[in-house]
Amino acid sequence: MKDDLVKIRVADIYLDESIYPRENIDHKRINIFVENLRDEFLFDPIEVQLYPGKKGRYRILDGAHRWSACKKAGQIEINAIVKTLYKIDPLLYAAKMAIGPRQLTEVETKNTARRAFNANPKLTSSEIGKSIGRSRQTVDSYIADLRATNLLALGLKVFHLNQLGIPQERIAKRLDVLQQTISSYLQEMPEMAFLVNSDLAKGYTVPQVAQKHGWPEPLVWSQSLKSKGDQTRFKELNWALKPWDVWDFNDGDKRFGDARPNRMPAQVIAHILYFFSKPGDLVFDPMAGGGVCPDTCLAMERRCWSLDMDDRPDTRPEIEPWHWDLEGKWENLPIMNAKKKPDLIIWEPPRFDIAEKGDGKRDISGLSKTEYLRFFEKFFFFLKKISKKKTRLGFIFTDFRDYENCPADQEDPNQAILIDAYCKVLKTTGWKLTHIIQTPLSSERFSAELTTPMQKKRILGVTSRYVLILKGV
Ligand SMILES: C[S@@+](CC[C@H](N)C(=O)[O-])C[C@H]1O[C@@H](n2cnc3c(N)ncnc32)[C@H](O)[C@@H]1O
Repeated sequence: MKDDLVKIRVADIYLDESIYPRENIDHKRINIFVENLRDEFLFDPIEVQLYPGKKGRYRILDGAHRWSACKKAGQIEINAIVKTLYKIDPLLYAAKMAIGPRQLTEVETKNTARRAFNANPKLTSSEIGKSIGRSRQTVDSYIADLRATNLLALGLKVFHLNQLGIPQERIAKRLDVLQQTISSYLQEMPEMAFLVNSDLAKGYTVPQVAQKHGWPEPLVWSQSLKSKGDQTRFKELNWALKPWDVWDFNDGDKRFGDARPNRMPAQVIAHILYFFSKPGDLVFDPMAGGGVCPDTCLAMERRCWSLDMDDRPDTRPEIEPWHWDLEGKWENLPIMNAKKKPDLIIWEPPRFDIAEKGDGKRDISGLSKTEYLRFFEKFFFFLKKISKKKTRLGFIFTDFRDYENCPADQEDPNQAILIDAYCKVLKTTGWKLTHIIQTPLSSERFSAELTTPMQKKRILGVTSRYVLILKGV
């Protein structure tokens, strides 16, 4: 695309420090520019790009001092070229533009190289060098420590995904590296595990070892509990094992999954795993969210393939990105063409909520009630298709009633989605219900300020959450 020369409102332009290569703005230089403006001197246009995520705004690539002077002189508009940078790092582009008029200092050059590498570790030293006017060797020396840390972090991700039984070609795709690189990392895995295990053997606790080695805690649990019996795992994790059909736990276990409101207690997942799978089994978690299921699978030594539309390659590399589009074809999902079929599916969809109608095209909680149930029908059929005869499905959901500000006897039942609606859909999709397990939400969210008016107005809230266990018919 051709870059455009336009007039832009000075107030719509921003100095984004994350792509600014200098340490400071030179105020003397700005004052000289202000004088020049008063003498009606015409500056070269500044260069900007559209500010990612901020509609109608621009960030400066070149000309921070000219822009500051215009602002100070009270100019409304400034001449600017709107650049489209295709596959070019904006910080490095800004650094390259800064080389001409006033050289970057040595500290600024080094910092720019390090910031660019941190933002994109795939940049080579010569690519960085070309932008900041330094040799490849100099850039190597600037970033040697970062590169070493980066390799270690990559090794840890490979280890993590491998522990969950994700095949090598998918690990390579997810981490955007060659499959050969994955194989060479896998050879180093016994060494990585040895260092962690020897600290555990010395009596350090799992959190201490996790902190020392920079490992996620569930990954350390996977080492600490390796080859132990399931009951021993429960004991060592300090979880009570409840051999009946009400699994009530007041709080999510902070060691497993991301901190989110209403985080699923890892104990619920561990109970499903305990009763309906065995070590080494493959679990499929199609909407993995905060990752409680893959984390718990690590501690319980189950393999786990998980997906979510929310892509977090740095913090949750094990959750592969995938959007379940109501109108889309899912048969081509690469994960599903794998020879291996899941032994257990654990599906916790987002809760239906009429108050949250929004972009229904993406998150299914934004669908209308009819479409939401249509999605479930399509999804259960699909899960059946990718299952084997013995596969179990653990379906976790919360009842929905539109109870807020509404006395119980005036609620509109047409707005509600209760357990019977899901059972009806399940019946038509080839699944047979074997267990109904209650695992209520914590009632602690109904604080004293909430309960008093609810009691007074005869409002009946919802804490019902269930795990339905199903097998194919
Ligand atoms: C209730 S959360 C799952 C929580 C998860 N079990 C955990 O441990 O945190 C539901 C997840 O479904 C995902 N989701 C919703 N609609 C989706 C869609 N159409 N395709 C893929 N993921 C979707 C959301 O991003 C959200 O993370």
